[in-house]
Amino acid sequence: MNLKKITVIGAGAMGNGIAQVCATSGYQTRLVDIDPGALERAKATITASVEKLFNKGKLDENARRAALEQIVTGTEMSLAADADMVIEAVTENLPLKLKIFKDLDSIARPGAILATNTSSISITKIASVTGRSPKVAGVHFMNPVPLMTLVEVIRGYDTDQETMQTVLDFTRSLGKTPVEAADYPGFISNRILCPMINEAIYCVMEGVGTPEAIDSVMKLGMNHPMGPLTLADFVGLDVVLAVMEVLHTELGDPKYRPCPLLRKMVAAGHLGRKSGRGFYTY
Ligand code: CAA
Repeated sequence: MNLKKITVIGAGAMGNGIAQVCATSGYQTRLVDIDPGALERAKATITASVEKLFNKGKLDENARRAALEQIVTGTEMSLAADADMVIEAVTENLPLKLKIFKDLDSIARPGAILATNTSSISITKIASVTGRSPKVAGVHFMNPVPLMTLVEVIRGYDTDQETMQTVLDFTRSLGKTPVEAADYPGFISNRILCPMINEAIYCVMEGVGTPEAIDSVMKLGMNHPMGPLTLADFVGLDVVLAVMEVLHTELGDPKYRPCPLLRKMVAAGHLGRKSGRGFYTY
């Protein structure tokens, strides 16, 4: 299937990054969010990122112009009506995602692929509220999207081979490397990453080490580019908690129990970078 028009739903950190790489790779790109303020912030983020990459010689003038001038933004889901593929990237909330997919199923043209950037929720469950489950797949980008090369591509229970092939080819056309994962909670990336971050938070709670000490061990001892607590702040503590809740509930194993300190910090509104405070202050 030949994709030309992509609509991204949700203009947060993931959605704006996905819209940016779609536009710079030559797709007609629309970005939808119910909050006009989020769309304005997304445009500013895309501009800063694109200028940086252009100045480093990593984007040419055409790609730069496509991202700065040609992304259509709006608050209406009708911007998905003639899309070849819709990529949903809203917050990690099951009822919200189910509602969006139900709406998209009636708005998007028959045959269009409906993809979700969910970091842990079942693709099969999301697909079940549509009348086109063979055309629903997971396409899980990593933050920051313009820099990270991995995209996890997840096959729901009913996803057909043509959809998988189209999504895999699409991610390659963005200059990314796709890795296929089966539809189990957290897929591959967050099945491994979030329990590691959760364990690092237990180490803070139990006084095994300070956040600085824990991050230094993982950076200097394991060559991770960011320590797990810096990364938690970067991803958002609410996102880490949401993923741990899915792993704990869906797999039923106590080893996935979210750390009480993580719950407490989220309840206090200390979500990391986006709220100005998490394990560190920004
Ligand atoms: N667009 C363009 N440029 C960007 C950028 C963006 N979005 N974000 C950062 N940069 C630039 C920086 O401005 C900086 O440029 P200069 O060198 O010119 O100053 C350059 O990239 C390098 O950045 P930094 O010096 O700040 O830091 P770094 O060398 O550590 O690289 C990083 C940054 C690539 C983010 C690196 O720290 C890294 O790989 N961290 C781990 C990220 C990671 O694990 N992501 C996955 C998160 S999990 C997820 O996303 C899935 C989920 O479901 C939770």
